[in-house]
Amino acid sequence: MKNIILIGFMGVGKGTVAREVVKYSDYIALDTDDVIESMTNKKIRDIFESEGEAYFRRLEKNIAQWLENSVKDTLISTGGGFYKVENLKKIGIVVLLDSPFNEIIKRIKSHPNAQKKLQKRPLLQDIKKAKALYKERRKQYLEVADIVLDVTNKDAQTCAKELLKKVKKHG
Ligand code: S3P
Repeated sequence: MKNIILIGFMGVGKGTVAREVVKYSDYIALDTDDVIESMTNKKIRDIFESEGEAYFRRLEKNIAQWLENSVKDTLISTGGGFYKVENLKKIGIVVLLDSPFNEIIKRIKSHPNAQKKLQKRPLLQDIKKAKALYKERRKQYLEVADIVLDVTNKDAQTCAKELLKKVKKHG
C-alpha cells in the first residue's frame, strides 16, 4: 500500500476525511500539523507567533524527509501549505481535496467550534488575504495532485469512499 497524502486549502476537511478513510481501510492516519505540534510541544499558532512562518516551513520540510524515508501504508493529512515541499511526490499518491473558497469558509463557519477553528489558523485571520492565498495556491494544488476529489457539499463518509475508489483505480 502506497502512502496517500491529502492536500488542500485550510478548512477543506483533510483531517475529517482522513479520520473517515481509516474506518474503511487498513490505512493508519497521521497529520503533519499534529506531528509538528507534538515535536515542538507548541501549537501551530504559537509557532507562527514566536518563530515565524519560515521556521514552520522548515519543520514541514524536515517532516517531509522523514515521511519519505520512514513512513509506509499511511494516510497523511497535511497543513494547507505542505504541498510545497520538494519531495511531495516521493512520499505517496497526492490527493487534492478541492472546493471553492466560499464553500470552505461556509464549512468552517457552520462548525460548532467555528471560532476555535478560525483562531488556530494564522493565515485565515484576514479573509481578503486568505482568498488571495487560495487563488494563488489552487493552480499549484491542481498541478501537483495525482487525484482531485471535489468535496463540496459531500459528507466525510462519501468523500472517504470516493477517495478509496479513486486511489484503487489509480493503482
Ligand atoms: C497552513 C495551514 C494550516 C497549518 C498552518 C499553515 C497553510 O493547516 O499548517 O496554519 O499554510 O495553509 P490546515 O490546512 O489544517 O488548516
